[in-house]
Amino acid sequence: MDILIVYYSKHGATAKFAQMIASRLKNASLCNLRVEPEPILTEYKQVVLGSSIYMGKFSKKIRKFIKSREEELLKKDLYLFAIGGLVDKYLDAVNHSLPAKLLDKAHLCVYGGYAYYFKKMNWIEKLVAKMTGVKKSIESLREEQVEVLAEAVLQEKN
Ligand SMILES: Cc1cc2nc3c(=O)[nH]c(=O)nc-3n(C[C@H](O)[C@H](O)[C@H](O)COP(=O)(O)O)c2cc1C
Repeated sequence: MDILIVYYSKHGATAKFAQMIASRLKNASLCNLRVEPEPILTEYKQVVLGSSIYMGKFSKKIRKFIKSREEELLKKDLYLFAIGGLVDKYLDAVNHSLPAKLLDKAHLCVYGGYAYYFKKMNWIEKLVAKMTGVKKSIESLREEQVEVLAEAVLQEKN
């Protein structure tokens, strides 16, 4: 296994998108930083890194991971994806979450769509969602972006 998909998903949308990428790539390892320890990076040549966006940024845990492992990540073929309700704001979130050097190094960054799973959200999260006009559970993940990302990874691999 030389492809790692490392991500943070709070309620499952980012995890689902990461799994869609993994099933397209077949031989990739998955690591959800919300529930798993930080991965050892040495065995991987290609790293796909993604997070859901909350309050305009990638999750704190993945930002901490990126910061502490920046030197190692700079040696990898890097691909990014962002999951969030605001399509026109995802690049701002990415720019606020990664150091410039890593952004320059990344082959591409895709926007994977979003989902709101009300059953998994606390009352504050439901309130915030309702304030943005989302009143019930919805899933809108962008399968074509899975394809775009997977193609880029496979092209570099071969
Ligand atoms: C409290 C709250 C804050 C959010 N803030 C943002 C945001 O700043 N930008 C954005 O694009 N999406 C925002 N979202 C939408 C989430 O990113 C979206 O629901 C995403 O699919 C969640 O992914 P997850 O299931 O992997 O946690 C927010 C959602 C909630 C509930």
